[in-house]
Amino acid sequence: MSIRQYLQSSLGRKWLMAMTGLILVLFVMGHMLGNLLIFLGPDAINAYAYKLHSIPDAIMTLIRLSLLLAVGIHIWMAVLLTLENKKAKPQGFKNKVKSTYASRTMRMSGVILLSFIIFHILHYTVRIVPTMEYNDNAVFTEIAGNSNYVALYKDSHPVIKYDEPVQTFNVYDMLIHGFKNPYVSFFYILSVGLLCLHLAHGISSIFQTFGLRNVAWRVRLDRVALVYGLIVFIGFASIPSAVIMEKLKYSWESSETENTISQSIELHQSSTH
Ligand code: HEM
Repeated sequence: MSIRQYLQSSLGRKWLMAMTGLILVLFVMGHMLGNLLIFLGPDAINAYAYKLHSIPDAIMTLIRLSLLLAVGIHIWMAVLLTLENKKAKPQGFKNKVKSTYASRTMRMSGVILLSFIIFHILHYTVRIVPTMEYNDNAVFTEIAGNSNYVALYKDSHPVIKYDEPVQTFNVYDMLIHGFKNPYVSFFYILSVGLLCLHLAHGISSIFQTFGLRNVAWRVRLDRVALVYGLIVFIGFASIPSAVIMEKLKYSWESSETENTISQSIELHQSSTH
């Protein structure tokens, strides 16, 4: 069988779905771990954002295109496999095999997740959602001194380049600002709940497609998948929850960080004189 024929068969399509799913599973874990830096304070997450933004444009475009391609192929294979299944099942046929809630809702959770991802990119990357418009001043009006950009800190010292403190985008306060809206936070928590369900079943299916989910390992691997989904849920949901519960506050409101931010503005101002 040629590669083309294999990829046109049900088995090949399932394999493509599993491989693209795996790429997305890894991206989600990496993204969650990066976001959790917010709990280490503004310097940690702003420095992380600085590193991400310093990746050369060509590489960033390649990463973004690969992610987009992975999402596109994943959805396309899901549609083809669903149509194939429908054709193969006689009319009125009811599947007697016991299925889990997650497996029955894969298509629904997938569609809602896609809408979430589109909203999320418009919210934090493109910033055109009301109150997050891509006028950085609009997003940061509430920030003392309008500091859209703050000095980059390392070991509590500002990083100096050519006698100037290096400036980085204030992702920390932008995230707090976004999640101050309880409707937005609720939508994020709901969506990452669905992501948890989608991942728990999706990862079990990846094990199945790769032939690892045999009788002896089935229960254990399903547990691994569930634990992964739960970790992702808790990790992502903790951020909007902490903002709503006021455990995470704007940098200038928190006594531990007030100093660094105001110090950085002062430093910046004195270096421009
Ligand atoms: C509380 C949860 C989350 C937070 C705080 C968060 C934060 C962010 C931020 C700040 C950005 C913008 C990065 C930048 O342009 O500087 C971003 C981009 C993105 N996020 Fe999230 N995220 C969350 C959940 C998720 C989830 C659950 C997914 C996927 C299932 C996701 C997928 C993405 C994608 C695809 C991008 C665009 C990456 C790019 O710029 O190419 N995020 N996220």
